[in-house]
Amino acid sequence: MNFSDSEIVASILTDEGFESSDDLLSADIVLLNTCSIREHAEDRVRKRLHYFRSLKKKNPGLTIGLLGCMAERTKNALMEEEQLLDLIAGPDSYRHLPGLLAQVGSGQRAVDTILSADETYADINPVRLDSNGVSAFISIMRGCENFCSYCVVPYARGQERSRDAGSIIREAKDLFLQGFREVTLLGQNVNSYLWGKGQNEISFSKLLEQVAKLDPLLRVRFATSHPKDLSPELIQVIASYPNICKAIHLPVQSGSNAVLDKMNRKYTREEYLEKIRAIRSLIPGCAISTDIITGFCNETEADHQQTIELMKEAAFDFAFMFKYSERPQTIAAEQYNDNVPAEVKERRLREIIDLQHELSSASNHKDLGETFEVLIEGESKRSNKQYFGRNSQNKVLVFPKTVQKPGEYIKVKVNRVTSATLIGEEV
Ligand code: 5AD
Ligand code: SF4
Repeated sequence: MNFSDSEIVASILTDEGFESSDDLLSADIVLLNTCSIREHAEDRVRKRLHYFRSLKKKNPGLTIGLLGCMAERTKNALMEEEQLLDLIAGPDSYRHLPGLLAQVGSGQRAVDTILSADETYADINPVRLDSNGVSAFISIMRGCENFCSYCVVPYARGQERSRDAGSIIREAKDLFLQGFREVTLLGQNVNSYLWGKGQNEISFSKLLEQVAKLDPLLRVRFATSHPKDLSPELIQVIASYPNICKAIHLPVQSGSNAVLDKMNRKYTREEYLEKIRAIRSLIPGCAISTDIITGFCNETEADHQQTIELMKEAAFDFAFMFKYSERPQTIAAEQYNDNVPAEVKERRLREIIDLQHELSSASNHKDLGETFEVLIEGESKRSNKQYFGRNSQNKVLVFPKTVQKPGEYIKVKVNRVTSATLIGEEV
């Protein structure tokens, strides 16, 4: 989301005559787009600001601004603490950046962290930063109202709101015409996307279908889905269109019903596993990935074992795993005790990471000898004689270069696997 937001910021500022630069040392303005999801993310921002302090010493005219969730969460307090900051703008304030920068230009420090009920930046055509010209993000909704008890997002990004469907379709079409071949529809909880009313109502499944129908050569992905909202209709749509990628990211967070309840996730492990079974039977070959938090308040050894059992049963192809990190303002911070000792969190995290390593490796070994359609993204980092790309399941494949170019599809047979990559050749 932050990456996509930075592209919106670049677009707003480009329209005002600014130019984006990838050379930090020659830039006149540095805007840091920040994440608050875990304490570690905020620690990294602080370290980065420390480095910027040395830049500002050398170049006192340098403007430094903080954007995104940490800006929203800490508001004026951070301005007080970090004297080098000239500007603070929350995730719904990016249209005001030109004005805020003008204010800085006239010698004042500028802060705007007002959250909006309807800002979706629908009419803004993002400037594609760091683009490979093949895949791009499209933001389809903003905010979240699920209030999972550990999560800062509802406070940092505000109310849930969906973006005008017509503008999403137009953006996808434009990208395709420019040569892009893969779009990822982004939102905190894409399944609750809703636009229009009555007969004209467009749900996420309908939107996904409309984007998929633009052209069979355009791959469509989406992130992230909340398990409670993953509907049979959506599974049906994914199964019906070959260009909707067969990869679903479905964060489970925990395998214990007691922990899920305390997390306010609104589903049980049985309901979650039922969805996994439905996906596996209706979308053969679909990759399923997840997010897991370990060491949440009151998590017992038995709860932890339940997570391990669920991981095995779901046989996740991939997972992002985190230690619970208490976030200010959240229900958990206000009402629960962060009572799992650091070393226990650490050990449980290690156990689930090790298990996932085995599951991912098993998932890759199943692909040995299989042939996949791969969208070529570019030259492999390791060798200029090789390309890399992804299959529909979002796995990275590396293979010798062929006459095809990035942005084209190629059939690749897998001959070898490592823990993270499939290695093959064109067939
Ligand atoms: N501590 C640890 N992990 C968290 N996540 C969200 N909030 C926290 C937190 N307070 C994780 C969840 C979510 C992912 C984006 O980050 O697993 O799905
Ligand atoms: Fe956070 Fe829960 Fe919303 Fe995801 S669904 S952003 S975890 S509150």
